[in-house]
Amino acid sequence: MIRVNFVTTDGQKIVAEGQPGQRLLELGQAAGMPLEGTCEGQMACSTCHVVIGADWFDRLPAAVEDEEDMLDLAAGVTRTSRLSCQIVLTRDLDGLDVRIPDEARDMQGR
Ligand code: FES
Repeated sequence: MIRVNFVTTDGQKIVAEGQPGQRLLELGQAAGMPLEGTCEGQMACSTCHVVIGADWFDRLPAAVEDEEDMLDLAAGVTRTSRLSCQIVLTRDLDGLDVRIPDEARDMQGR
């Protein structure tokens, strides 16, 4: 099991357990996070945008250029932003901290 600590826009902490090979996007969705993932991982939307904990960011494989380009268009982007559809869970990521950006809430129309 790989534990991922999600923090919602309300500051609520939710721990989700994933499997190696699972995408962070799918784990987040399964945990009830408001990640639409509209393009299903084609890097053609940014509705799967998450903010990775600073301690973890450097431990992830670097983003490819297409991901960087998409993130440039994402609302509320930060230095440690990533597209969750591009992050595949591995055992090394056990304990990963992931925050849902505020703007995700607006996309949900809430
Ligand atoms: S699901 Fe569209 S970029 Fe990740």
